[in-house]
Amino acid sequence: MKDSVHILVIGDIIVDRYITGTSTRMSFEAPIPILDYKNEELKLGGAGNVALNLKHLDSSCKVSLMGVVGDDYHGQWVVDELENYDIDNYFIHVDDSDITNCKTRYITGTSQMMRLDKSPQKTYHNLESIVLACDNIKFDMIIVSDYDYGVLNKDSIESLKQSAKCPIIVDPKLKNFWDYSGVYCIKPNRREITEALYYKLRKRTVDHNDIDSSLDSLIYEMNKYHKSQYIVVTDGDRGMCWYDSEDSSYSYLKGIPAKLVDVTGAGDTVISTLGYSLAKGYSFEKSLKYSNIAASRSVEQLGCGYVDFSGILSEIKGTYSKEGELWHQQELENIRV
Ligand SMILES: Nc1ncnc2c1ncn2[C@@H]1O[C@H](COP(=O)(O)OP(=O)(O)OP(=O)(O)O)[C@@H](O)[C@H]1O
Ligand SMILES: [Mg+2]
Repeated sequence: MKDSVHILVIGDIIVDRYITGTSTRMSFEAPIPILDYKNEELKLGGAGNVALNLKHLDSSCKVSLMGVVGDDYHGQWVVDELENYDIDNYFIHVDDSDITNCKTRYITGTSQMMRLDKSPQKTYHNLESIVLACDNIKFDMIIVSDYDYGVLNKDSIESLKQSAKCPIIVDPKLKNFWDYSGVYCIKPNRREITEALYYKLRKRTVDHNDIDSSLDSLIYEMNKYHKSQYIVVTDGDRGMCWYDSEDSSYSYLKGIPAKLVDVTGAGDTVISTLGYSLAKGYSFEKSLKYSNIAASRSVEQLGCGYVDFSGILSEIKGTYSKEGELWHQQELENIRV
């Protein structure tokens, strides 16, 4: 296994802002509740959360984040927060004519009353930064965290595929879905692959009930138009299905039962753990098993959960080895804690 790895995360950076308070009165001005302010908290979201996941997995992992923020309070907060977590912010472009992507949730108790979105007005594709970074830094892995806010488009994806000298793994949304063909691994969730297939094949509004629901048949369809070495489709508590193009095989990984608290960010945990484990040198199958365990641990935490990689390895030696379901004895013996 490699001792130290350097991972580049490229994608849409979001600021998740939580305003909490108590709400016991209705307004006289309009038929709406009043929230009495108690606290405000900011969190790194989107691609920022993937970078944060990597740092929690292993604080010695070198992480660079590429994306765009506006020249405003929240943009500066992102730049500072990355520095606090020792995440390289050299490739963050500060756009002085735009705002930072920020989602504000107004919360009382456990209920969200409203969400206010401040979305960037322009798109910026970091084309030069992609080439510069790939030409000058030896990354072990590139993770793309695409939330459809415009950092990635057809041109920047093409430029990335051409300049990258290491594997690229992608967490896609809809707009650029098919442009990622040819990457090492793509990891949509059930909804994303379903929508992508509908837009591709029928070009009409999506009806989620009217779809052949087995994950391998969705991957089979997708694979007709998309050539990547691995396709992984996640499916909430049901786990995930993955396709290996080398031997055209489909495999299922069952979800690991979790004391569910909050599913937010489970997908970010999967892509981060997968990218980290692959960069370290673990096999694809083993890396995916680690990701499955990490994701089930992350949904047990409120908000975006974070997991420590050495904790996962210890856990495998403990709980799961006894059940013998996840790992063969030989595999367990080969894992160093
Ligand atoms: N309730 C759960 N119990 C156990 N594991 C879960 C649960 N929900 C999600 N997971 C794990 O997390 C993985 C990713 O979940 P999911 O398919 O919901 O991702 P996602 O929709 O991309 O999430 P996100 O909301 O972060 O975008 C699953 O494959 C599974 O391993
Ligand atoms: Mg997701």
